Amino acid sequence: MTGQKKRIVLLPGDGIGPEIVRVAVRVLKDCASEFGHHFEFAEFPFGGCAIDATGMPLPAETLVACQAADAILLGAVGGPKWDAQSIGKRPESGLLALRKELGLYINLRPIELRPAIRSLSPLSADRTRDVHIDIIRELAGDIYFGEHRVEADASGERATDEAVYTTGEVERVAKYAFARAEARTGRLASIDKANVLATSQLWRRTVTRLAADHPGVKLEHLYVDNAAMQLVLAPAQFDVILTSNMFGDILSDLGAALVGSIGLIPSMSCGPGPSLYEPIHGSAPSLAGKDLASPVGTILSASMMLRESFGLKQEAEWIESAVDRMFSQGIRTADIAEPGASYLRCSEFGERLHAEMLETVERHAQDV
Ligand code: IPM
Ligand code: MG
Repeated sequence: MTGQKKRIVLLPGDGIGPEIVRVAVRVLKDCASEFGHHFEFAEFPFGGCAIDATGMPLPAETLVACQAADAILLGAVGGPKWDAQSIGKRPESGLLALRKELGLYINLRPIELRPAIRSLSPLSADRTRDVHIDIIRELAGDIYFGEHRVEADASGERATDEAVYTTGEVERVAKYAFARAEARTGRLASIDKANVLATSQLWRRTVTRLAADHPGVKLEHLYVDNAAMQLVLAPAQFDVILTSNMFGDILSDLGAALVGSIGLIPSMSCGPGPSLYEPIHGSAPSLAGKDLASPVGTILSASMMLRESFGLKQEAEWIESAVDRMFSQGIRTADIAEPGASYLRCSEFGERLHAEMLETVERHAQDV
């Protein structure tokens, strides 16, 4: 097998972003040297640190580099330093601009319980059995990208956020969700608020129409309030979930809570060009610089990059199985440690993972 040559753009961002991205890059480098790939890394300012350096959360140079990349790895953006900024001038607006500019309309967030740390789930063991949900969140439309306006009003102020969806926008993400469901168990739950919102009615009509082309998929529709309840009461009923940008933001945090920590969940955002990988947690300003954050969501985002963007399944499994073995050995990060129990710092987890990965290579070399 000849190695792959890939250019990976790194956007560490703010808060804990740089610490966690550093660990994930080490893992990617290990994969490159072990499997004979050539990964080239280039880091660019993005988010609050880019506002400080250039006045803009998404500098033109960063965007151009992302457009030319084979894949992008992002840490997190935002922090109290920039909280007073108006919408549009915040680090988060850089993230939204990047999603828009790269046309990243699909966001995949796998809600998967890692076997050795199942007991971290706040739900009882019988409820979390067989939970592995792929949440597919539409990422380029909805209330996130409609007009946001604040005007003076007799009572004080009047604020408006416009939510928009077009048939085309719903179709393209729904097609991806049907394909994903077909590749899995064939169950697709589409989540909306069609009893109230026009955008949701369009959503439901469009998804229902597409179902005719996918006879192998069992489609059901749920209102988002009920879906939130069902995710807690009986999460194993879900296989692939398809939902809008706003509902997907909320439900994916709920999904992360089922797993035991938001620090464990990776994500992939894709469109016509390079895909972007990021943990779904935020920049955790209170942990920044303390080497306390969990790098697991970012490590799993890196392995998702290998699998989904580069087709490197074996490499992804190498990483994921090493993480799972560490969890089975009782190794914990601060977010998932029992009160008073010991845990590894962010960089220590990275060191340990490096050793664990190399050990399987040595073992494998001895076996053959
Ligand atoms: C996420 C985040 C972002 C979002 C924020 C940081 C803008 O919460 O990726 O889920 O709302 O999409
Ligand atoms: Mg979110």
